[in-house]
Amino acid sequence: MVPWHNLDMAYTLDEKNTERQFLLARILNPLTRPVLERANVRPGGRCLDLGCGQGNTTRMLWETLRPSECVGMDFDPTLLEHAAAHPDNAPGVTFLQGDATKLSFADASFDIVFCRYLLVHLPNPISVIREMLRVAGPNGKVIVYEPDCAVQMSYPPSWALEKMGSIWDGLFPDSTIGRKLYSHFQSAGASRIDAGAVQHSETGSSDVRRVYRLSMYAAEGPIKARGLLSDGQFEDLVQELERLEQEPHAACFKFPDMWVIASL
Ligand SMILES: C[S@@+](CC[C@H](N)C(=O)[O-])C[C@H]1O[C@@H](n2cnc3c(N)ncnc32)[C@H](O)[C@@H]1O
Repeated sequence: MVPWHNLDMAYTLDEKNTERQFLLARILNPLTRPVLERANVRPGGRCLDLGCGQGNTTRMLWETLRPSECVGMDFDPTLLEHAAAHPDNAPGVTFLQGDATKLSFADASFDIVFCRYLLVHLPNPISVIREMLRVAGPNGKVIVYEPDCAVQMSYPPSWALEKMGSIWDGLFPDSTIGRKLYSHFQSAGASRIDAGAVQHSETGSSDVRRVYRLSMYAAEGPIKARGLLSDGQFEDLVQELERLEQEPHAACFKFPDMWVIASL
């Protein structure tokens, strides 16, 4: 069986994807940190980062929440190898191969259970949230940060960005999971839920626009295999994103992200 996460995007460690993950961390970490701070977590606890990829989120959790231990878990062993080799890993940061949809940890074994941009890739997010709440237990907190990919725009406008919503929709099991997070946590049995949204706009930098283009390369196989774009349409889209990336005066609005901080 092909794991779900291989069906929409590749996370291979090639040059384009490594740059994509680096840029994503540069864009998303400053947006995620205020959410982590809002959770008001006591330092010294145990922290679990599901779908940690190259470990950028795991290291951010370590620095921001000051736990005694921070475990990054991912399905993909090659990403974990890369994550574990990072020179900035503190001794309390460790990495573990595993499937977020089948957590083998005991009830209440972590104080914080976190994921970012993971549930959007999974076909049954409510059952994953239920498991996150279980391993956090009644005194732990679950923090989730996910996208809602329907709308992205720029000025001057670009047809390529306007097309992106339908491409994400064709790729992910639920590309608009962000708006549903609050409801999903209620369905999963959370009792205390704090939720909000983050909108990021980019002027004077091209990181977001570049990530859009690099993401298209990461998803090229599924985009073509599912008939979302023909070879020619794919080339046109990438070319237009490249043009937009080089447009010095453009303002670009990335799709919004939504977050939840919750407990059982
Ligand atoms: C978009 S990346 C997010 C990486 C990181 N959380 C961040 O925000 O930079 C999604 C990650 O989830 C991992 N993943 C997908 N399905 C998974 C599963 N069932 N169990 C564990 N990891 C999974 C992928 O391998 C990938 O590294």
